[in-house]
Amino acid sequence: MLNIAVLVSGGGTNLQALIDAQNSGEIKNGKITCVISSKADAYALERAKKNSIATRVIERSEYSDIKSYTRAVTDALIEEKADLVVYAGFMTILDSQIVEAFPNKMMNVHPALIPSFCGKGFYGLHVHEAVLESGVKLTGATVHFVTEDCDAGPIIMQKAVEVKNGDTPQILQRRVMEECEWKILPKSVSLFCEGRIKVNGKITEII
Ligand code: GAR
Repeated sequence: MLNIAVLVSGGGTNLQALIDAQNSGEIKNGKITCVISSKADAYALERAKKNSIATRVIERSEYSDIKSYTRAVTDALIEEKADLVVYAGFMTILDSQIVEAFPNKMMNVHPALIPSFCGKGFYGLHVHEAVLESGVKLTGATVHFVTEDCDAGPIIMQKAVEVKNGDTPQILQRRVMEECEWKILPKSVSLFCEGRIKVNGKITEII
């Protein structure tokens, strides 16, 4: 059974999808053992507590730079004996220390079809605003391994949805979450825990 640690910063609906998948037996060979939040008031923490999952708060604002903040998060994950680290709405870009400690053992859910609408500055609602401004007709979500380059690690799963006339960033965000993120994140986590994701450079293969 692998220990899954989840990093959060906000509402935690993706964490909830993981908890629901765990409770329904969809996540094989893994258990969420710890939730770490970069914000003390993140609602995601309540979701963890309701499900008796251990929580830690490591406030970004209490650290002077990204190096010391990354060190604190990395040390906490090592202490928690994390086998898999899931970024589920975690809004801080950490430096290479964490990638060195957990190579190909961290995954992130991004609310667009990478390599579009990703990288620095593309997070949360901003992504959906940019999608609507661009006029693309399809968007979606991506789960990928975390590497040093923001949103550029090997892609594990993607799912697309239509952009519709009259969409607002909020409406689109909800569709992407419901139809894409909350489905492909638990699936990717289970595949990892079952040892079914093979990584070869940028390419992953589900075995
Ligand atoms: C989700 O849409 C997630 O994909 C996105 O923030 C939202 C968090 O929602 N993450 C990013 O934009 C990271 N680049 P949640 O807290 O309800 O899971």
